[in-house]
Amino acid sequence: MTMDQAERLRKLVEQHPVQETAGSPSKPKPPASQKPKASSKPAEPSSRSAFSTNARVIAITSGKGGVGKTNFTVNLAIALRAAGSRVMILDADLGMANVDIVLGSSSKKYLLNLLEDGMKLSDVLVHGSYGVDFIPGGSGIEKAQALDDTKRAVLLQKLAGVGELADIILIDTGAGLGKNVMDFILAADEVLLVTTPEPTSLTDAYAVMKAYSRYAENPNLQLVINRIYDERESREVTVKLQQTAGRFLGLEVGCLGYLYEDASVMRAVRRQTPFVVASPDSIAARCIRAMAQGVLYGASPRVDRGWRGFLQRIFHFSR
Ligand SMILES: Nc1ncnc2c1ncn2[C@@H]1O[C@H](COP(=O)(O)OP(=O)(O)O)[C@@H](O)[C@H]1O
Ligand SMILES: [Mg+2]
Repeated sequence: MTMDQAERLRKLVEQHPVQETAGSPSKPKPPASQKPKASSKPAEPSSRSAFSTNARVIAITSGKGGVGKTNFTVNLAIALRAAGSRVMILDADLGMANVDIVLGSSSKKYLLNLLEDGMKLSDVLVHGSYGVDFIPGGSGIEKAQALDDTKRAVLLQKLAGVGELADIILIDTGAGLGKNVMDFILAADEVLLVTTPEPTSLTDAYAVMKAYSRYAENPNLQLVINRIYDERESREVTVKLQQTAGRFLGLEVGCLGYLYEDASVMRAVRRQTPFVVASPDSIAARCIRAMAQGVLYGASPRVDRGWRGFLQRIFHFSR
């Protein structure tokens, strides 16, 4: 991507104003230069910190659909599990929830079953293959958000236990700038934004960065570049995108890593066996394992709101 292209990208996105419904515009955002640093962040209200656990909450999102979020999420989860972390996935794609398909583990119960008498978290949690558990959220999350205060509080209470069962909770969100997706990425302490190196995907990714930079209280976003053919070329594209975000949005964007275009990904989807398991020596599997190391030992780990704060926000008990 040349600087000209970056400029065009910026202009393109500037022409599409951020939806005002996204995020929580209730609090005016300080200019980038005045953003509080993580270390100087004011103490959290006691209601929040009293419930905090140490589980990291990482949302995986994208601007454009079909760029590989679910495959990335599931395979990353397995690689993190293999590295010794307890991992949980919340399937939060309200339109196309398909973690179960990629993982090859089906579920009989859904999130809203938690509201039934005597139903426990363990009844709804799916012990998926390869040591990765997941919560089949899907459209149930949207329905849950529309319930009355009492029912939402019951759900929150039961789901809060996930924070004790996992070290890392991955949220597989839908794509785009819809209010729901924004809710998830603003509620998570860390965000991974998946994009391909194609201009359409990059432009949509930039639109997500723009909305995120506007509403995130303590931004922490990294890119994952999927379906690359040439690492050097992809690196150049990524650096341009990072520079554009820094310059025009005041947003510091990291890059977790690159994932090659690899036929073993498609083959694995067809076989319903994740590629890190079906083809552990493939280039895609090696990329995923490198990124798992980045998640574990990179610069972004942060538990701020934590899982409890995440739930409070998505169930609208806090901003
Ligand atoms: N690195 C890759 N190499 C080859 N094909 C890929 C790769 N990543 C994703 N795909 C293809 O894209 C499809 C959509 O991926 P998916 O993870 O379901 O996307 P999303 O969750 O973003 O909608 C997969 O079924 C697979 O065929
Ligand atoms: Mg998906």
